[in-house]
Amino acid sequence: MTFDLQRARAETPGCRHVLHFNNAGSSLMPEPVLAATIAHLQLEAQIGGYEAVEQASETIDRVYDAAAKLIHCHRDEIAIVENATRAWDMAFYSLPFKAGDRILTAMAEYASNYIALLQVAKKTGAIIEPIPNDASGQLSLEALRSMLDERVKLIAITHVPTSGGLVNPAAEVGAIAREAGVLYLLDACQSVGQMPIDVQRIGCDMLSTTGRKYLRGPRGTGFLYVRQGLIEQLEPVMLDMHAAEWVTRDSYEIRPDARRFENWETNYAGKIGLGVAIEYALQLDLETTWRRIKTLAYQLRTRLSTIPGVIVHDRGVIQCGIVTFTVDGVEPGTIQQQLAAQHMNISVSQRNGTRLDLEARDITAMVRSSVHYYNSEEEIERLCSSIARIAEG
Ligand SMILES: Cc1ncc(COP(=O)(O)O)c(C=O)c1O
Repeated sequence: MTFDLQRARAETPGCRHVLHFNNAGSSLMPEPVLAATIAHLQLEAQIGGYEAVEQASETIDRVYDAAAKLIHCHRDEIAIVENATRAWDMAFYSLPFKAGDRILTAMAEYASNYIALLQVAKKTGAIIEPIPNDASGQLSLEALRSMLDERVKLIAITHVPTSGGLVNPAAEVGAIAREAGVLYLLDACQSVGQMPIDVQRIGCDMLSTTGRKYLRGPRGTGFLYVRQGLIEQLEPVMLDMHAAEWVTRDSYEIRPDARRFENWETNYAGKIGLGVAIEYALQLDLETTWRRIKTLAYQLRTRLSTIPGVIVHDRGVIQCGIVTFTVDGVEPGTIQQQLAAQHMNISVSQRNGTRLDLEARDITAMVRSSVHYYNSEEEIERLCSSIARIAEG
């Protein structure tokens, strides 16, 4: 498929107001997502929240089909939750660990995941072991293979870390995990919507993601995938009357599908918006948009590298739409403020977001500019000209 930039921009109202290079923070919603989300809120206001759910039940139900189609699984393997962290937590905290169990993770693991690892390690005596990087900066497959033994109970890694353009070799890790019979939890928060994702090909047992980043859905949405066959072995750490049924005075039955990881009350407008966002991404074709994102990011990295005083920090064999850099003598926060004054959005990656990775690279903070397919080449040029002026002092 060919990509229609004009149409993508025309359908993105935010493009008329800002140059948005904070897509790894939260993308600009396209018009159909905005319209569907607002329409459901209006329906709630007009006829009542519970009644609105009745009326929109088919649309709400279709969100599961859309998510399943997006990542190539069955709709019963999907739980729709508030965000990627909650999705990841619901899977992770349902896993039983005991003293001496080993959990392998990546150097660029996200803070919220790592904090959860630390908490469980503290409570159970399980051991966290980061897999070293290879020379390119991605997780070393050779090191992973050498670390495996019967005490390894989980491999939990991030596909695209918050702190750069790196894409970890998720499918290669999946093949190793399967061969070793170790559970594999993939944080795909920043890769879903950015690139084609196929859980069968990747071979992960659990995958978490968010709605607001590369999927361009509303904030406060996300979903979890858990492989059929594993679902019923995992007891969610919290249950309610949606996750389980109260069948006799003294007993309950947990539902058999992945919705056992959801909770009863939810933001239905957001959920509908998420469904529309997924359908929108599928309609544009993930292969096509992924190609465009990589091209734009390459343009941005190449242009930035020519600016005196600018250092691009992205690592890895495959690099995605997230571009990180520093400017000699200028704090990332100052750059963010100066660009904001020109209606250009970027963000700052701080050390405590991916502590292991940034400590190892001796970086305290970096500017993070993340492109999406709807950014234009001209916007990239304008961003780089502004950065060149900032670098000049
Ligand atoms: C790699 C990674 N994982 C997880 C998250 C958390 O996602 P959410 O804010 O939707 O919980 C983020 C957010 O920035 C992230 O970058």
